[in-house]
Amino acid sequence: MNKLCFLIFVFLNASFSESYKILVSFPVPSKSHKILGDGVVRHLVKAGHEVTYITPYPANNPPSSLRQIDISSDVNAFPDVINLKAILQKEVNVQDWRQFFAIVTRVANGTLSNVNVQRLLNDPNETFDLFITEWFFTEVQIGIAAVYDCPYIWVSTIEPHWVITRLVDEYLHPAYNSDMLLGSSPPFSFYERVLQLTSQLMMTAIKVFYTNGIEEKTYTDVFSPLLAKRGKVLPPYNEVLYNASLIIGNSHVSLGQATRLPQNYKSVGGYHIDDVETSLPEDLKQLLDNAKYGVIYFSMGSILKSKDMPDEIKTGLLRIFGELKYTILWKFEEALPNLPSNVHIIQWAPQQSILAHPNCILFITHGGLLSTTEAIHFGKPIIGIPAFADQFTNVDRMVKKGFAKKVDLSFTLAEDLKETIVDILKDPSYAKRAKELSFIYHDRPATPGAELVHWAEHVVRTRGAPHLRSPALHVPLHQKCYLDLVALLVACFILIRIVLRKLINLLFNRKKAVTKKKQN
Ligand SMILES: *[C@@H]1O[C@H](CO)[C@@H](O)[C@H](O)[C@H]1NC(C)=O
Ligand SMILES: *[C@@H]1O[C@H](CO)[C@@H](O)[C@H](O)[C@H]1NC(C)=O
Ligand SMILES: *[C@@H]1O[C@H](CO)[C@@H](O)[C@H](O)[C@H]1NC(C)=O
Repeated sequence: MNKLCFLIFVFLNASFSESYKILVSFPVPSKSHKILGDGVVRHLVKAGHEVTYITPYPANNPPSSLRQIDISSDVNAFPDVINLKAILQKEVNVQDWRQFFAIVTRVANGTLSNVNVQRLLNDPNETFDLFITEWFFTEVQIGIAAVYDCPYIWVSTIEPHWVITRLVDEYLHPAYNSDMLLGSSPPFSFYERVLQLTSQLMMTAIKVFYTNGIEEKTYTDVFSPLLAKRGKVLPPYNEVLYNASLIIGNSHVSLGQATRLPQNYKSVGGYHIDDVETSLPEDLKQLLDNAKYGVIYFSMGSILKSKDMPDEIKTGLLRIFGELKYTILWKFEEALPNLPSNVHIIQWAPQQSILAHPNCILFITHGGLLSTTEAIHFGKPIIGIPAFADQFTNVDRMVKKGFAKKVDLSFTLAEDLKETIVDILKDPSYAKRAKELSFIYHDRPATPGAELVHWAEHVVRTRGAPHLRSPALHVPLHQKCYLDLVALLVACFILIRIVLRKLINLLFNRKKAVTKKKQN
């Protein structure tokens, strides 16, 4: 009888695990961010949750448990400054923080003032159990968690980074953790180490003295009327800012480094990759199956259009590709004339399925984190041609891990690339290292998707997971640096000095007085 009860209990538990209402926001109008947002949503929907998704790229036939909040009118918020030609001619400084902050603020403001988002936020009857939002250089959207009075989770699309860990715990130590935009990974040279420190100090100063104020104002302007409507008062910005329950990181130790992380930072890198492999279209399958010497897959991602490539580089690439015996699969947005017989151009590429094919022997990429993750997932060596953002740091890291080589984006790209292709394919250690790292990547207690769902549910079930939060958040800087102790010691020292001096003076004066008396 007891056994029967137990079985029924197990059955009920399994089939009626609770469904939560989750709001997910990935407003950045860029393909790679969309892929990461779609991944989060896909896993949550599959786990039976009711998901509302703020996205600039709504899908056509969403499942019934997915409601999409369309912000596609904001897709043009990113100006087209990031193109290959401009980078090559050094016209844009893609690391310029002022320009960058203006762009990300425009995206954040645009999202919050979007009619569809406003409609959602203004509905006084709407509730959510959890808010999941991408971290992308602004933090104003945390007011949404205040509106629904629910816990929230950051999704970090990059390797662990001090700008985001500081929100739940501590800065990462600049002597052995990379700033994503500086382009180097540990071990650092003296110069690099100093650069890491100054960058952290400078960015902190910019945040404290400049951007925080602007963001706090936006937060107040946008969210106090919404809370007033619900009969509540908006909590202070800083209280909400340091109140995240969790960070879900698109990172994994096989790709990055063994970074010391707080308990509420969960690395689930690779969750965007589909668990079930999609099959290749028949023509591509034939091509890969029949490639006698193997296939080199070449793609510069979705933001950098190869069509912006200067003609001399294009023709140079075609020439050197033609001189190789391998089959080249080039993802390119336009058809090119005079293709050598071993070069094939495809405008759309099922990248994961291509990398999964055993005949794919090398991946030439810009080194975005999604592409490098996929290379490790499928165990393929890389040639990285970094162009902007975290790509330099990613590629530097891959090179140090021993499964990649770097080629600079320059007007001599074609020649440099040919030499590097020959080198990397001649030396079997690169492919072997890629396989080793792939093993480490896959050898986890659960799939990244399952882990993501588990931690999101854990936050709801434990009402914000306060037990995971770092006590470091509540220790002010002067206490962390023991400045109070230093002050105490200095005070003691001064006090002792004064007392000693007084004593010596006293003794001395008495002596003097005595001698004077004697002289008299
Ligand atoms: C909210 O719910 C209440 C009670 O169910 C209802 O009277 C009201 O019309 C709803 N408001 C909106 C904006 O849907
Ligand atoms: C964003 O919105 C805030 C307040 O609504 C405003 O003060 C600020 O100027 C806006 N910023 C941009 C870049 O549009
Ligand atoms: C901080 O988070 C906890 C748990 O999610 C929540 O109960 C509390 O209201 C939040 N505080 C503020 C100021 O938002």
